[in-house]
Amino acid sequence: MPLDVIVLAAGQGKRMHSALPKVLHPLAGRPLLAHVIDAARALKPRQILVVHGHGGAQVRAAFNGARVTWVEQARQLGTGHAVMQALPKVNKGADVLVLNGDVPLVGAATLRQLAAAAKDGLAICTTELGDATGYGRVVRGAGRRVRRIVEQGDASPRELAIREWYTGFLAAPATRLAAWLGQVKTANSQKEYYLTDVIGLAAKDGVQIATVAPQDAWEVAGVNSRHDLALLERAHQNRRARLLLEAGVTLADLWRVDVRGTLDCGRDVFIDVNCVFEGRVKLGDRVRVGPNCVLRDVTVGADTEIRAFSLLEEAAVGKRCRVGPYARLRPGAALAEEVHIGNFVEVKASRIGAGSKANHLAYLGDAEIGARVNVGAGTITCNYDGVNKHRTVIEDDSFIGSDATLVAPVTIRRGSYVGAGSTITKSTPARQLTVARARQVSVPAWKPPAKKKS
Ligand code: UD1
Ligand code: CA
Repeated sequence: MPLDVIVLAAGQGKRMHSALPKVLHPLAGRPLLAHVIDAARALKPRQILVVHGHGGAQVRAAFNGARVTWVEQARQLGTGHAVMQALPKVNKGADVLVLNGDVPLVGAATLRQLAAAAKDGLAICTTELGDATGYGRVVRGAGRRVRRIVEQGDASPRELAIREWYTGFLAAPATRLAAWLGQVKTANSQKEYYLTDVIGLAAKDGVQIATVAPQDAWEVAGVNSRHDLALLERAHQNRRARLLLEAGVTLADLWRVDVRGTLDCGRDVFIDVNCVFEGRVKLGDRVRVGPNCVLRDVTVGADTEIRAFSLLEEAAVGKRCRVGPYARLRPGAALAEEVHIGNFVEVKASRIGAGSKANHLAYLGDAEIGARVNVGAGTITCNYDGVNKHRTVIEDDSFIGSDATLVAPVTIRRGSYVGAGSTITKSTPARQLTVARARQVSVPAWKPPAKKKS
């Protein structure tokens, strides 16, 4: 049977104390809602409907281009009301799976089980893990059959003692769900249309209500506060760390690594403490990443070492390179094999050929650097004239003396030597020494300035 997924995301999330709608708060660098949508997508549903209200335009904008059907719930009259807003857009013959936009770690395997169990009429995801305070309690009757769900504010002391609670995920055929929701009233402590009243109505209709347990306790943890979010972030990161370890990566500390995207590692990769990986990062065999590095959308070739405190963004690093400590690779930096980029060297939109080195204090921007080039300390490619960017070309086997400024557009021809402190404004001839600086003079009869008498 086709499946439609409804994600409830209209709540404001008051306890976040934020201008950002709750479902846009990031977990592992992506909005909470994105995680829920991913889990839903894994079930290959016919459509995913997201019910939004508070900050709706902002939420829609954040998911611009995502294949999602948006449903507006202008006033938040309860979870039952929210589902009712979506039902007219649901495929009549479909099964419906309801998820919460603020419960981000739900897994596809649990959802698959839930959707499969809905065939018999109604399936709910429940658990006894953790503290049930605040949640809807699952009331069972004779033969342990589910009779209804009672919300915290409406529960008797005996019901409050029930440990089994409703996680907020349910599945049912669309037509049946619509019929039950049509009967839901607001006679409760919150004067809201409770989605959970559907369970009692289904039981009265003689429907067998299936319960499915989450495979992992974190799957049902919701975000209501920044504290919840912080705990979930750690739980999620720890899960990812475990996967890395299982795949053969060595982590100096499994609690001090953050992956906000995908991290692919070859064999025997070592990652030191406090590294952050964002976007798509690929590390080749035996890559070592020193402490406190940030890598975003980067590929690193085998046997390369990224040393402490380096920041690499949208860059490609070849095999057997040495980058850092304190190096910065900006978008478009492409290093061939055995390149050394040392401390306080910034590289932007530049290719650097095999075996070339820039070991200290340099800015290499919009440059094409050949093989076996040595870039001295303090070298700067002056790529910007205040209006336009220009390219610097440094051909193979050149040597750039310390503190040279290369005013682009300019070409340093093959095998050039550029004297230290030179300001190069014209291209240099191959295999010659070019020096462009004031000649050194000494003044023999020079007297130091004397202090004026006041
Ligand atoms: C709900 C359940 C409770 C369950 C708990 C699990 C109801 C009545 N109760 O309670 O049994 O244990 O989830 O987390 O369903 N939302 C809307 N529109 C609304 C109201 C809510 O879209 O009008 C969305 C919220 O943004 C949120 C979700 O629905 O994503 C759940 O709403 P929330 O108010 O958090 O429900 P709870 O009181 O926690
Ligand atoms: Ca909630």
